[in-house]
Amino acid sequence: MLNVVVFGGPGSGKGTQAAKLVEKYRLVHLSTGDMLREEIARKTALGAAAAVLIDQGQLVPDEIVAAMIAEKVAAGKANASGFIFDGFPRTIPQAEMLDGLLSEHDLSVGKMISLDAPEDILVERLLVRGKASGRADDQDEKIIRNRIHVYHQKTEPVIEYYAAQKKFISVQGVGSVEEVFGRLCEVVEK
Ligand code: AP5
Repeated sequence: MLNVVVFGGPGSGKGTQAAKLVEKYRLVHLSTGDMLREEIARKTALGAAAAVLIDQGQLVPDEIVAAMIAEKVAAGKANASGFIFDGFPRTIPQAEMLDGLLSEHDLSVGKMISLDAPEDILVERLLVRGKASGRADDQDEKIIRNRIHVYHQKTEPVIEYYAAQKKFISVQGVGSVEEVFGRLCEVVEK
């Protein structure tokens, strides 16, 4: 199975590229951001609690996202040729949890691919998307910059976690969507 973590700051292109990888390699796409937005749309109690944090650019507690991922891995395992983890893991405890969960299913993360782009490009992409997306966390530059701050503080250390396992690969995330996709496919197929 091809299990890949697509990593990077807010707006780095994780969701865009994950969707293309899923189509090309017939993988199951697991995006914790999408799962949380679904909970918000369905007006569940979990969604209401998550919305308060998401709208401030803060992370949702590890246990909540871990439980969502565990359920989807168990459900998707039989029919998939692999998983793309998009926006997860975002903290070291989440990375440890993912390793534990996958090993229960005799699986493991094969590669962790990080999309790198300068902060100003990330902010610009998210402000543009915010005009049409309706996402509260895309509307305000202060909240976008807080998401990037939280990424540096809590999420970037996950790079070291996978580097220690020799699974970390960095890919230039600037360029057209197709150019970035070409770079990603090259490292996926290596
Ligand atoms: P999440 O949905 O994961 O948001 P994010 O990481 O902030 O990422 P985005 O979806 O904003 O960006 P992306 O990197 O996917 O880029 P995209 O392809 O969309 O999480 C949202 C919130 O949920 C978090 O802040 C947190 O509160 C919570 N959460 C989620 N997971 C969690 C977890 N594991 N633990 C705790 N909390 C969690 O592209 C962005 C824009 O750029 C699009 O408009 C796109 O069209 C454009 N674009 C993409 N690529 C290019 C390109 N090459 N050139 C030009 N434009 C491009």
